[in-house]
Amino acid sequence: MKGIIFRGLEALVIEKCGMAAWDELLEKNAPDGRVYISAQSYPDEEIIGLAQDVATALSMTMPEVLKAFGEYLFGHLNRSHPTVAKGFNSFAELIMGIDKVIHVEVAKLYHEPNLPEIESKLIEDGFILMHYRSKRQLCMCAEGLIYGAASHYGIDVSLNHVECMHDGFDKCVIEVKYEALNG
Ligand code: HEM
Ligand SMILES: [Zn+2]
Repeated sequence: MKGIIFRGLEALVIEKCGMAAWDELLEKNAPDGRVYISAQSYPDEEIIGLAQDVATALSMTMPEVLKAFGEYLFGHLNRSHPTVAKGFNSFAELIMGIDKVIHVEVAKLYHEPNLPEIESKLIEDGFILMHYRSKRQLCMCAEGLIYGAASHYGIDVSLNHVECMHDGFDKCVIEVKYEALNG
């Protein structure tokens, strides 16, 4: 997992719980002196360990934490790469462009990123069906990112996770229902 994702979690934890809380989490879950650099890769287990401890500290479940983190992460990624999402005029365009545009750009910017496979299909105005596949199974993070994208465009969205890799399916299927008028 790239440092930019860890830095997103770091920013969120520091904002909500303070620097001391983050230092404590780092000490427990990462090697001594760890500093996350956006373009570098770090073990996936490290972010899972950090997120798990955030969950314990805040009495939240792991899916709840990943979702909240994903929502925050959208803004964080957008601030770090302001040109990537600029090309989209609406929430729907952006969601349709995750795999073939956004993550394609990401793959040019980062050395060997570990990206999920995301297929988005526009069923009708206001309804996109998303398929998510990744061996990291961060589908709740994907949900959070979708909420983050909706709030970026100032629209309401509701998600229905109809199939999940965590339940043994080969992919997650997420129904994305959104306000079609302005989004
Ligand atoms: C709603 C929109 C988006 C969704 C649903 C999405 C989904 C995801 C997910 C779930 C991951 C975690 C890896 C995995 O699941 O295997 C990921 C990784 C990543 N995404 Fe996206 N993403 C979105 C938008 C963006 C945007 C706007 C950017 C940058 C401008 C971006 C850049 C990245 C980067 C840098 C990684 C990390 C790759 C690595 O660690 O090697 N994503 N994305
Ligand atoms: Zn899932």
